[in-house]
Amino acid sequence: MPVILGIESSCDETSAAVCVDGEMRSNVIANQTIHEAYGGVVPELASRVHQQNIVPAVQQALTRANIRKEQVDAVAFTRGPGLLGSLLVGVSFAKAFALARQIPLIEVNHMQAHVLAHFIDDPKPAFPFLCLTVSGGHTQIVLVRDHFDMQVVGQTTDDAAGEALDKTSKILGLPYPGGPLIDKHARLGDPKAFQFPEPQIPGLDFSFSGLKTAILYFIRDHVALDPDFVGNNIDDICASVEHRIVTILLNKLKRAALQFNIRDIALAGGVSANTGLRQGLTELGQQLGWNTFIPQFQYCTDNAAMIAIAGYYKYLNGDFVGQEIAPLARMPF
Ligand code: KG4
Ligand code: ZN
Repeated sequence: MPVILGIESSCDETSAAVCVDGEMRSNVIANQTIHEAYGGVVPELASRVHQQNIVPAVQQALTRANIRKEQVDAVAFTRGPGLLGSLLVGVSFAKAFALARQIPLIEVNHMQAHVLAHFIDDPKPAFPFLCLTVSGGHTQIVLVRDHFDMQVVGQTTDDAAGEALDKTSKILGLPYPGGPLIDKHARLGDPKAFQFPEPQIPGLDFSFSGLKTAILYFIRDHVALDPDFVGNNIDDICASVEHRIVTILLNKLKRAALQFNIRDIALAGGVSANTGLRQGLTELGQQLGWNTFIPQFQYCTDNAAMIAIAGYYKYLNGDFVGQEIAPLARMPF
C-alpha cells in the first residue's frame, strides 16, 4: 500500500497531493493571483510565491488525506519541463523531504503526467490510446503504448493552443489568464458569427501563430470603424475564436485516430478544461464510435495529483532517482 506524496511547481500553481495505493486522497492547488496585474506569469514572482506556498500546501495535502508525514513511502516531483526557478522550489523541497525521511525520490515529466491524469479515476483508457495534450505551453498528440512508453506524433510548430487563447484574450483587453474567460464568453456567443482561417499544416502538426495574427488584424480593422466593436461583440468573437481552435485540434485528432487505427481517445492539459473542446470531443466520439476520456476539471490544469499517480506507477517499477537530480526547463519524453 505505497503512500506517495506528489509535488508540482512547474509554472504558477503550487500543488501537493497524496496518493494511497493508486487512490487519490488529496489534491491541494494554490493558485498565484499576483500575475494577473502583469497580464502573464512573471517567472521571478512565481518562484517567490512557490517558496511561500509549498510547505502549507504539503501540510494541507497530508491533513486532508489523513496521512502523517512518517507514513509517506516516496516523494514524486515535477523535474520539468517548466520555469527553472519555479521547478527549483519543488525539486529542492522534494529532495529535502526524502532525505529527512530516508525514502525514495521519483522524478516525473510534467507532460507525461498530464497524460497519466487519466489513471486517477475510472474508467481508464486501454493501451494503446491517443491523447491530445493541450496546455499553455504545449499542443501535442501523444501515442500512449504504456504508462511510460509515449511518443509525440504531432505537435505545434509555433504557439500552443492555450497560448493562442491567452493572446486572444489580451488583444480583447480581458485579464490574465484568458482561457477560462474566453470559455465563459463563448458559452453566450455564436460560434459561426465570424470566420477565422484554418491553417494548412501537413500531417499531424499544428500551427497557431497565423491565426493569432488574423485575429489581431480582424480586431484592429473593426475597431478602426467602430470603437465599441469589441465591447458589443465580445461573446461572438470569443465563440468564433474558440470554435476555430477546437476545430483545428479535433480535425488533427481525427486524422491521427484514422492513421493509427485507434478508438480510445483522451484529452489532457489545461485547455481540456474548455467547455467547447470537451463538448466537441464528446460529440465527435459519438459520431465515430470512439471511447473518449476527459479528466475531471481539477486534473486538467496543473495539479500534483497527476504527479502523484505517475509517481505511484514509477514506485511499482522501482524507478527512483538520487539526491544529485536537478530540474530541467526543457525535458523531452
Ligand atoms: O496545463 P496548464 O494548467 O499549464 C501549462 O502547463 O501550461 O494550462 C494552462 C492553459 C492556459 O493557457 C489557460 O488559459 C488554459 O490552459 N485554460 C483554458 C481553460 N482553463 C485553462 N483554456 C480554455 N478554456 C478553459 N476553461
Ligand atoms: Zn501543464
